[in-house]
Amino acid sequence: MGVEKTPDWLEEAWAKALDKTRLNAGRIGAAFPHASHRGQYTREQPYWWTAGFWPGLLWLLYNGGGDDQFKEIAEACEDRLDEVLDGFTRLDHDLGFMWTLTSVASHKLTGKDVSKIRALKAANYLAARFNLKGRFIRAWNPWFEGEDNRGYAIIDCAMNVPLLFWASNATGDPRYRHIAEAHMDTVLEHFIRPDGSIYHIVRFDPDTGAFIEGIGGQGYDANSAWSRGNAWAIYGLALAYHHTGKAAYLHAAQKAAQFFLARLPEDGVPHWDFRAPAGEDVPRDSSAGACAASGMLLLADLSGGTEAPVYRKPAVRMLESLFRNYGTWDDPEEEGMILHGTGNLPQGQNVGVPLIYGDYFYVEGLARLRNKGPFYWEK
Ligand code: GLY
Repeated sequence: MGVEKTPDWLEEAWAKALDKTRLNAGRIGAAFPHASHRGQYTREQPYWWTAGFWPGLLWLLYNGGGDDQFKEIAEACEDRLDEVLDGFTRLDHDLGFMWTLTSVASHKLTGKDVSKIRALKAANYLAARFNLKGRFIRAWNPWFEGEDNRGYAIIDCAMNVPLLFWASNATGDPRYRHIAEAHMDTVLEHFIRPDGSIYHIVRFDPDTGAFIEGIGGQGYDANSAWSRGNAWAIYGLALAYHHTGKAAYLHAAQKAAQFFLARLPEDGVPHWDFRAPAGEDVPRDSSAGACAASGMLLLADLSGGTEAPVYRKPAVRMLESLFRNYGTWDDPEEEGMILHGTGNLPQGQNVGVPLIYGDYFYVEGLARLRNKGPFYWEK
């Protein structure tokens, strides 16, 4: 909320993010960084789900006083994604993450027509993944020959459906919004447990649409509480309320947020899974903290009144802790900004490292505190 006092560390944090990104712009250029090992971000192929976060981060910083080269690199990344969009076969539900943070961002900031057309193409491919019987957006294509994941939906998709809301606003055609709402209604019905924790994956019968089971996915197990899944739910449900005004989404976002906040450790940065067995060495996931913090700043604004500080205060605390305790500001050789992300622990991938989406949501959270929108998921 605009009336709150600006945190006294905020401009220093923004300046340090700018400095790190100036160094990275020269090192990374129009590539697709993902997880930082021994100081250097791995560069992924452009079809990987994380491809939008580096250009998205560059747009945020450019819009907040950054260099022209940030814009040029973000545009070059967007151009490179054409081979993925036109190639079609590698596309999955992460179309939302990828084209919201590139083409929607570019269209909002520059008005470029080519960006609008790319984002509309992406929205059409995303809408086409909708399963009418189960009322969910299918997550992935088979990862290996013979795999049947036709009935899989995942909570991460709550952050992909804003592309559909955007497409309805851009075209005046309500079909995209109808699909987004139907998917989010399925999230309300099948992903959120009564205590506010979240299933990562839900499997439906792809022919009848019947619910089959919840699956652990990137969390500890099917009944655990993967913190980044909770973060995707908090932010995605808050956005669904922002786009529709439907109170059930707001209440569900608040419930997911209260579950998350009640389980934070002393420094405000979550562990990878809130229900991993006590006694095990459970790593942090700073990316879950960054995503939840930015989402809770939006949730605070949407909640308003006496409810607003319930979400805003811990969100500011999380961002301050990420800045002070997890930042790599004193290590110019390190490309990542925020240490101790957990990518995919069950698969042993990218544990305890900076993750580009952690960096993105950290910077987005700072931009929210600076009231420096637009934010690409929103109207
Ligand atoms: N969307 C995949 C993840 O959160 O790791």
